[in-house]
Amino acid sequence: MELFKHLPLFPESASTVAGKVDAIYFFGIFLSAFFSLLIAVLVVAFAVKFRRRHPDAYGVPEKTSTPLELTWSIIPLLISLFLFGWGVKVFIEVNQAPSNAIEYTAVGKQWMWKFKHPEGNREINDLHVPMGTPIRMKMTSEDVIHSFFIPAFRIKRDVLPGRYSEVWFEATKPGVYHLFCAEFCGAEHSRMIGSVHVMEPAAYEAWLQGKEPGQTAVASGEELFKSLACITCHRGDAGSRGPILANLDGGEVELANGQVVKSDDAYLRESILNPRAKIVKGYEPLMPSYQGQVTEEQILSLIRYLKEINQKVADAGDATPAAETQTAANEG
Ligand code: CUA
Repeated sequence: MELFKHLPLFPESASTVAGKVDAIYFFGIFLSAFFSLLIAVLVVAFAVKFRRRHPDAYGVPEKTSTPLELTWSIIPLLISLFLFGWGVKVFIEVNQAPSNAIEYTAVGKQWMWKFKHPEGNREINDLHVPMGTPIRMKMTSEDVIHSFFIPAFRIKRDVLPGRYSEVWFEATKPGVYHLFCAEFCGAEHSRMIGSVHVMEPAAYEAWLQGKEPGQTAVASGEELFKSLACITCHRGDAGSRGPILANLDGGEVELANGQVVKSDDAYLRESILNPRAKIVKGYEPLMPSYQGQVTEEQILSLIRYLKEINQKVADAGDATPAAETQTAANEG
């Protein structure tokens, strides 16, 4: 809304969804203001018009009018339905990352934000992103509940320990924007702030070039897969003691108790930290827990690596070479 752009109370709008969120917000505000004003004016006007004119006056019984009652029922109903439909549309847009979104990760911790770029760069409290690229932020917390809030992008999402949450954005304007923690998380909650640096794609590339990239999530996941000796049991051949991890399908896993579960991030995370919670059909509960041995960032890397080897299998388009792909990926 042009009108409000220069109001210091209102945050800048710098993402693809910001304008849509604002439009719905202002529509709601104007609608409420219009009806509040209308009602207030009518209350006063009717109070004057129908005032008691002399001491003996008494009221007249009301006449009912069906068309009038229908009108004041149907109009608000239509307005509410319109607002609801519009809200759902924007809600879905804000919550559903486009399929080409690039995954970054964020780990919240008392009292800082730790970011990892897909290229492997790490940052704390500062986040550099390219303009015009949809970015999916996969987030978790090392301790308590935090909340990832970038007012200029109109996005806010809770970040929970033991769970993954996601939020996405596509920045539309270069600049530096506030990042807040929007959930009271302890003594220094108010200092858990950061800056999002939106850069032109070329400038972002130059920034990346100028930095030591560090390991990508896939590479560190692969390294962990070996160093934690996951590979000794999840060898990927038919005789291995652990399930073939390159065969997750991104879909479903059948458990020893007959239950079928989705092999999503939450399932993978649980299987690393509490392997006995869900035993895959045909395997013994042999795996030790890795609770306390891996950080949240390492778990994110492991999951990213598992997804990568599964993607390779999917790309190969055939389930049979799964074992080979995993072994190849492990050795690669
Ligand atoms: Cu983290 Cu408030």
